[in-house]
Amino acid sequence: MSYEDLVKKAEDMLAFSYAPYSHFHVGAALLAKDGSVWTGCNIENAAYGPSNCAERTAVFKAVSEGCHEFEAIAIVGGAEDGEGKAVIDDFCPPCGDCRQVLSEFCSKDFKIILANSRGEQKIFTLGQLLPESFSLK
Ligand code: THU
Repeated sequence: MSYEDLVKKAEDMLAFSYAPYSHFHVGAALLAKDGSVWTGCNIENAAYGPSNCAERTAVFKAVSEGCHEFEAIAIVGGAEDGEGKAVIDDFCPPCGDCRQVLSEFCSKDFKIILANSRGEQKIFTLGQLLPESFSLK
């Protein structure tokens, strides 16, 4: 799958984002080495702490179905406009917790694709976004 198609799948997930507290919507699409794609959105909670990011939703969906090897993830996100639709003017890099969760299953050369609504992309490796990461492996 092309990175453009992966970004499109991440964008499609914005519609499912459950973000009544932050009003910030995030969508992610995780490409596995076997070609399967696992999507996710952020899912917030009234107690805030139990909220889950889009990236981790995608990783947990995949791992819980036995898929452990990944190539790339596309991430898009932004705050709601007046009509409740996410505006993805800016890039939405993964938070620290999501970087750590990705590092459990992905190698240093795993690709993190950030995209915005102007069709621009920024691509990083996990090694760039989480250098010297903690691991017990
Ligand atoms: N969020 C994500 O889904 N992914 C990230 O990497 C950063 C933040 C979500 C969490 C929360 O629902 C909202 O964005 C605002 O922080």
